[in-house]
Amino acid sequence: MRKKIVVMKTKLLDARISGAGSLKQQQEAQQRAEQAVAVAAEILQSGGLVAFPTETVYGLGGDALNPQAAKAIYAAKGRPSDNPLIVHIADEAQLALLTERVPEAAQRLMQAFWPGPLTMIFEKKAQVPESTTGGLSTVAVRMPDDAATLALIRRSGKCLAGPSANRSGGPSPTSWEHVLRDLDGRIDAILQGEDCRVGIESTVLDMTGQVPVILRPGWITPEQIAEVTGGKVEMDPALFVNRPRDVSDHSPPPKAPGMKYKHYAPKAEMVVLQGSVAAVRRGAQALVREKEAEGRRAVALLFSDGDPKETARTLFAQLRRCDEEGIEFIAAGAVQGSDSIGFAVMNRMLKSAGYQVLQVADDGSFLK
Ligand code: TXA
Ligand code: MG
Repeated sequence: MRKKIVVMKTKLLDARISGAGSLKQQQEAQQRAEQAVAVAAEILQSGGLVAFPTETVYGLGGDALNPQAAKAIYAAKGRPSDNPLIVHIADEAQLALLTERVPEAAQRLMQAFWPGPLTMIFEKKAQVPESTTGGLSTVAVRMPDDAATLALIRRSGKCLAGPSANRSGGPSPTSWEHVLRDLDGRIDAILQGEDCRVGIESTVLDMTGQVPVILRPGWITPEQIAEVTGGKVEMDPALFVNRPRDVSDHSPPPKAPGMKYKHYAPKAEMVVLQGSVAAVRRGAQALVREKEAEGRRAVALLFSDGDPKETARTLFAQLRRCDEEGIEFIAAGAVQGSDSIGFAVMNRMLKSAGYQVLQVADDGSFLK
């Protein structure tokens, strides 16, 4: 018997309702969005995959309690299967499907930040498949802040396992067009929403120990968390090890398995420049001229004098634009200062650059 080859066609389901227009146009958009959510929910119920918008980045969703759906997510992304998925819920009641024990501090954090860009890790219930948690006995959960996605979760009646909806290793997607470029033909549908307003992934907070530990820095800062819990918050020490991990590395591995992989990388070689705003500008321009003289397409991305929140929102989109334009070398100015959003953005930027960093002195010379 001949084997049937199935070529999947990725459906675009329009759930965008914002924007101007007459009352009639708004009503039509509303109806279209409801229809889009209904179709997407059916796909999820039958074990299929739907990419969905969130405030942070687009996610690639499948039924979190269906091991086949979880496996299909890894296959579509080309993701290593020991890297656990975040489970997205729409109501706190769904937590009871995933975990038995929610510490009091976690309840306060939910009240304060959900729906929003905070993921919390709990001990998992037996019914959460290990294919969703990458073989771990814990499960990561968050409630995303996007109306269409919350409607999708409710309508499907499923908890949604959802990593970022990009091919593994590349920059995360902050628009539905990014998702289509990476995953067209590999997933059933994309629920189209607006561009993501946060732009970097959620803060991941381990709630399984005595003290909450940040495993991945993000929009919700340690200061905000401490203010709500009234206690200490720790950072995974691996977050301060700014070099790629290899087999000879004896420093403790990051507790979030995903943090050890090559990540967010554009196709171009990328270097991060640190120093004063003026020095970084001068250094970046000099490097670009040098690379261009070698016949390479090079650009400077100067984030140094900008607002870290704005950099968070646009970083991945800018790296993707470089890829589209065939850029071969990126000189990126580091985010200045030591604020917590800046730290989260630098975590992404350093990974994108494979931890290649140059210090620039005030006279424009390179120190390292
Ligand atoms: O903002 C976000 O969090 C986005 C949107 C789609 O919600 N999702 C996202 O998922 O960034 P992903 O799979 O790209 O990143 C999940 C991170 C990985 O670093 C993973 O290792 C970690 O969370 N993680 C998930 N479950 C974990 C667990 N049980 N223990 C430790 N780390 C976990
Ligand atoms: Mg990701």
